[in-house]
Amino acid sequence: MGKIIAVYTATGNSLYAARKIEGYRPILIEKILSGEETIPDDTESLGFAFPVYCWGVPYPMRRFIREYMAGRDNSRLKYVFAIATSASTPLSTLADMERELADIGIALAYSASVRMPDAYLPLQKKAVTEEKTRTIIGKADEDLAAISSAIADESVSIPTRGPLYHVMRRISPYAIKPEKTKLRASDRCIGCSLCERICPMGNISIKDGKAVFGDECISCFACYHRCPESAIEYPGAIGQYHGIVPTEDLIRR
Ligand SMILES: Cc1cc2nc3c(=O)[nH]c(=O)nc-3n(C[C@H](O)[C@H](O)[C@H](O)COP(=O)(O)O)c2cc1C
Ligand code: SF4
Ligand code: SF4
Repeated sequence: MGKIIAVYTATGNSLYAARKIEGYRPILIEKILSGEETIPDDTESLGFAFPVYCWGVPYPMRRFIREYMAGRDNSRLKYVFAIATSASTPLSTLADMERELADIGIALAYSASVRMPDAYLPLQKKAVTEEKTRTIIGKADEDLAAISSAIADESVSIPTRGPLYHVMRRISPYAIKPEKTKLRASDRCIGCSLCERICPMGNISIKDGKAVFGDECISCFACYHRCPESAIEYPGAIGQYHGIVPTEDLIRR
């Protein structure tokens, strides 16, 4: 009887959060989708960990639920929870997740959010320094310890929808959908292919020894923040967030 957390993460925060939940094994959703990993049939306790994207469930997690989870036999699941990591407030994200799961017949028993460092470049006003990261993670660790014991007790906490729920259910999926990106590789790119292997959308390829971006970008900025040569450019971006899990743990292919 396995205890699994299905994780979507771009910059690593949500994987870090999932690793703090005692007794559970976090697995990246891309590895489940590729068949490299599986959610065993006898799994009774299942969590989902993911970042808040535009006050909603991110596109890859939504797709995972609608395509993979919807096609699975979920009748053995007894305790299901969701953990969202966010830069400020999750607003109605957890209620959005509750609805996504309810739509495929899965009842969410418990949900919680935790504040983590922000890596969203279009709204970034200050660089994410190591000192700032340490401060935010110190508080997050306390919150995650409380979340972990609530999950160990199989606590119940259903998210409330709030006044913006219906608006965000509509806006969020469209605000951050796969599209063309302003990211580009500079002359510093050495064609190491790390970004290609990290991109959750498979949106980067190496051509003539240089990273080239396709039209399926979800602005997760995993590539930008983890490039070892700081070779990825984005208009107005200030510094990389090097993250709190090793880069190799984010490699998806
Ligand atoms: C595309 C995008 C949209 C985001 N939207 C929000 C948001 O609406 N509210 C918020 O608090 N944080 C938002 N964030 C911040 C992330 O939720 C936060 O940094 C999260 O911990 C990143 O998790 P990850 O490292 O697992 O990818 C956004 C980040 C990205 C990349
Ligand atoms: S990770 Fe950086 S250096 Fe490596 S291929 Fe991508 S852009 Fe180029
Ligand atoms: S190309 Fe877009 S989707 Fe892929 S890692 Fe970079 S920001 Fe994320």
